[in-house]
Amino acid sequence: MPERPLRIVLVGFMGTGKSAVGRRLARRLKYRFVDLDLRIEKRAGKTIAELFREQGEAAFRALEREEASAVSELENVVVAAGGGAFVVPATRELLRKGALTIWLQGDLEITLRRVRTDGSRPLAGNREIMRALLAEREPSYRQADVTVDTSRRKPREVVDRIVELIEGQQEKPSVRP
Ligand code: S3P
Repeated sequence: MPERPLRIVLVGFMGTGKSAVGRRLARRLKYRFVDLDLRIEKRAGKTIAELFREQGEAAFRALEREEASAVSELENVVVAAGGGAFVVPATRELLRKGALTIWLQGDLEITLRRVRTDGSRPLAGNREIMRALLAEREPSYRQADVTVDTSRRKPREVVDRIVELIEGQQEKPSVRP
């Protein structure tokens, strides 16, 4: 029977609970929690908002790719990736390498309520902008190994579902090397 995945990567749109679920899941599995955005902020010595404002999105995406590469070397970790990370093909491949990738799929209305448009998320906009961005990104998120609907589940329930999936996964070795 294959081992449980050494790395679990949570992907999906802003406000779907990647960090809240990631922290709990890591605790449950006795894995370390890694927040890709926090690593980028520490590395840059700036907040994401400052990075976007001062250096632009391309500079942020370059750092995101580098951090995804660094994280792809880690074991026994749960990684929360920012909402755009899985959309960039090179970054997506790094995040997928040897990991179980999980799309936390959320209902747009619930996501909109959760995402504050206070500038801390530079790409968060009004309902129409968010709807268009989500539609554009969905084909990328679908490339995750598994999907978990988070809209009617509390973080604890999402974690329960993921643990069930991981246990099932151990019987069918479908995670790419
Ligand atoms: C982004 C989402 C953010 C952060 C950055 C860009 C995106 O992460 O990486 O603001 O492109 O959707 P969260 O999904 O954790 O909000």
